[in-house]
Amino acid sequence: MKKFLALALSLVMAVSLAACGTSPSTPAASGSGSAGSAGSAAASGSGDQLITVGFAQVGHESDWRTASTKSVQEAFSKDNGFDLQFVDCDNDSAAQLEAVRNFIEQDVDYIVIDPIVSTGWDTVLTEADDAGIPVIVIDRTIDDSDKYISWVGSEFTNEGLAAGAWLKDYAALKGISELNILVIEGTTGSSAQIGRTNGFKKLADENGWKIIDSQSGDFTQEGGQKVMESYCKSYAGQFNVVVCQNDNEAFGAEDAMSAAGISYGVDGDVILISFDACTAGLTDVLAGKINADFQCNPLQGPFCADIVAKLAAGDTVNKETYMEEPWYVAEDALTEITYTNNAGNEVTEPLVHVTQDVVDAAY
Ligand code: AHR
Repeated sequence: MKKFLALALSLVMAVSLAACGTSPSTPAASGSGSAGSAGSAAASGSGDQLITVGFAQVGHESDWRTASTKSVQEAFSKDNGFDLQFVDCDNDSAAQLEAVRNFIEQDVDYIVIDPIVSTGWDTVLTEADDAGIPVIVIDRTIDDSDKYISWVGSEFTNEGLAAGAWLKDYAALKGISELNILVIEGTTGSSAQIGRTNGFKKLADENGWKIIDSQSGDFTQEGGQKVMESYCKSYAGQFNVVVCQNDNEAFGAEDAMSAAGISYGVDGDVILISFDACTAGLTDVLAGKINADFQCNPLQGPFCADIVAKLAAGDTVNKETYMEEPWYVAEDALTEITYTNNAGNEVTEPLVHVTQDVVDAAY
């Protein structure tokens, strides 16, 4: 019965993925090979009707997170054959481990985790494995355990590398020879923070840019504003680039710079770089407040539900699935960037000039 339902689910998810218009890419270098099937766990779950899925979400810190939650909740709807149990872990790693343990206790059919931080997972994933409950990871990565079936998310290091590659070309275009940079990082220990920091730092080191300071704003607007207020006091007149690791931090940084009388963006003294490219972020790119915004794609729900449906049907799934993520810019002078990506390949990727149509199509 459950297998029959899962086959039907696979069809439903295939249709919704086709309709979604964004397909994940699975680069050969990423080790995306098949990761096995759910086997008996999928066949022996509770109930005959709906597949029960526990989702331990990071929290509600950003516009990106809101879009992520909506994407997962819509994909794992009752109409699609799922009973989703959603836990907002409020950016608290201990609460997230407890949520996963509760899902194991409840004997859900599948567990989906968006890990707040990338380490500290092996014990609880072993417990899930022992209980025969397959775990799917989305968005951020787990770096200290491979006891999960599949992951779908972003190549955060490439996001940082792309931001650095764009800054290099943009500075050359504008004749800016010296870059003095302030970074507002995301949640410390999250793979999004680690990847973006490392990727951008690689370009900074290669090009001799000075990173004056780099502190966490915890991926929130309030955090971004606080860090930027303190930067404005400590480094007034010393910086010409601010890198915020998500849009909400950028909004906070904008407020802090405006209050301090510092101009930023296309016509300003400070180049402002952001990540996520949510609707409000791209609105600021269109307005020239943010110079460049590197997308992190939150619409992972349909891909994750497709993975669960395939596992429930006994099919094999990829170990890794990467979301497609464009890079957005305020000015049309540069149309592409070339850089060596995290897999060691030289790639040339387009820069999307933001227009109202681009904003209207954003998440
Ligand atoms: O893990 C994705 C990151 O988490 C997004 O960049 C950020 O907005 C969110 O909080």
